[in-house]
Amino acid sequence: MTKYQVETGGKLYIAGEYAILSPGQTAILMPIPIKMKADIETARDFKITSDMFDYSVGLEPNVGYQLIQASIHTVSLLLGKEMKDLPPFHLRISGKMEAEGKKYGLGSSGSVTVLTIKALAKFFHLSLSNDLLFKLAAYTLLTLGDNGSMGDIACIAYDRMIAYKSFDRQAISKRIRDYSFEKVMKEDWQYQIDVIEPQLDTHFLVGWTKVPSISRDMINRVKYAIDASFLAETQKAVLDCQKGLESGDKDLFVLSLAQVSDLLQELDPAIYHPKLLALKEACQGLNAVAKSSGSGGGDCGIAFSFDQVSTDRILTNWRTNGIDLIYDKRWLADD
Ligand code: PMV
Ligand code: MG
Repeated sequence: MTKYQVETGGKLYIAGEYAILSPGQTAILMPIPIKMKADIETARDFKITSDMFDYSVGLEPNVGYQLIQASIHTVSLLLGKEMKDLPPFHLRISGKMEAEGKKYGLGSSGSVTVLTIKALAKFFHLSLSNDLLFKLAAYTLLTLGDNGSMGDIACIAYDRMIAYKSFDRQAISKRIRDYSFEKVMKEDWQYQIDVIEPQLDTHFLVGWTKVPSISRDMINRVKYAIDASFLAETQKAVLDCQKGLESGDKDLFVLSLAQVSDLLQELDPAIYHPKLLALKEACQGLNAVAKSSGSGGGDCGIAFSFDQVSTDRILTNWRTNGIDLIYDKRWLADD
């Protein structure tokens, strides 16, 4: 009996949201270790179970299980087999990345895609690099018509803080329609993923607004406002942010985050939901910086605090405003 367990985490944007939707822009993301798990074992028939649903399915198309089934399909292409000709397995997915029945917004759909591919790779003894894992997950999401930048799956596949340079998803989607899986997978899609080793001493805080926001809808609303100056200014600030992180330059880091935050605030008022405004204002006058993270409109915001007094004040303020601390971590520069 073959039996394996694999896991994937969540992610949050530090900088570069919305701009990253345009090919060639850069965003910085970091992994959040709130995990999803997959258990996979040999079985008589295909069975897929997720704790998101109160029913299991096989390989017959099911809307609820679409992401998982599409990910299985991608691995079958990699193996050069029809899905139905794969040795049958039972795949069980758990870990909802939510509380009180409301999602955190840590990228659970990206995470489940990477997770399913990882689980099947393990089951079929394929060793996948982080890069190939990302590309297979991106292939899967593109075939489903996902309108995101794929930054989330880059971060989740690498499970490291990364600078992600986005590729032309429209062009690659077209190539996927026109050419074989083998051919398209061999091509250079022109994205870039660089691991960042942060050298800052700071306390990283994630505040959850408890207001669920749907990225797809936010993108469809905000995309018309994205213009060349937003892209250029964001890119400059994102590269400053990366430099600040890598060189331990706190002032440059704080300034760059304030800049990307202002740019997002000007882009569309829907991004800074009142609770995200409160989350950010909690840092005013303190030795700290905060911003919305991801598409905004709810979900999570992030803060970086540079002393204990500031951290305590932020957390008290967040509590008063109904913002939950769902993850925090002290970073120490390793010199
Ligand atoms: O809210 P999230 O974590 O799904 O982030 C969305 C970030 C956007 O740049 C707005 C969209 C994307 O896919 O990059
Ligand atoms: Mg979100």
